Amino acid sequence: PTLEKELLPLYFGWFLAKRDQDYLRKTSHEFLEQLGNIKAFKKRLQPYGCEEKQKLDLLKYFAKSPNILHCTTKFCDYGKVLGSEEYAQQEAVKKAYSRGYTLHISALFATPRTVGAQVELTSDQLLIWPPDAEKEVMPKDTFPRGSRAHITLGTAADVQDVQTGIDLLEIVKLQQSGREWESLGELAGPVAGKVSYYENGMWMLNLARKIEVKSIFSGYYG
Ligand code: A2P
Repeated sequence: PTLEKELLPLYFGWFLAKRDQDYLRKTSHEFLEQLGNIKAFKKRLQPYGCEEKQKLDLLKYFAKSPNILHCTTKFCDYGKVLGSEEYAQQEAVKKAYSRGYTLHISALFATPRTVGAQVELTSDQLLIWPPDAEKEVMPKDTFPRGSRAHITLGTAADVQDVQTGIDLLEIVKLQQSGREWESLGELAGPVAGKVSYYENGMWMLNLARKIEVKSIFSGYYG
């Protein structure tokens, strides 16, 4: 009998448990509501295509949100992406498949294109993080491994989800540049922490208390 070929997924990643997805979506809304209300943000609406005196509803602005909140490790496009077969065949990846992981969210960020959560990978999680994930999208820069790890929370109209990780790397790059980034405000409650502004409409909230979410490492076949 002939065995069917093993199928590669659209992507591999950590998929959040239902309760934690609901919690993170609520937290994301809280973040956008509070961010949209701070004075410093209202003064910098132009990158979002708004005049200073206009009202901007960030919840509406980020019109799209992924069906399942997740942190992508490797985008394979069912095997069309170079290196996806090699990735899937790694012992570490096979061993991790269908196992539970706790993801640590250290920051939330918003740009004119995307809103997302920065994920701090543990050494265990880095074992299944592709070594070229950062170079793939920003070949000229050097980043600590795992810098691109994120959860897409929402995108503006006509923006693809893949943009979220690129936006995160833009912010990390500016953080690495050695320039001083003053905090322009503070949020409260479940999103307590300092908010920094990084030019061109890019904002990041450093969470005073990291958010932990439960997830399962798996493949998404669509
Ligand atoms: P992200 O991980 O930032 O959310 P799509 O629905 O566009 O096919 O994408 C499915 C998932 O794969 C999304 O989570 C998306 O982005 C991610 N993704 C899409 N394209 C790429 C890519 N070229 N590199 C890495 N991740 C990608």
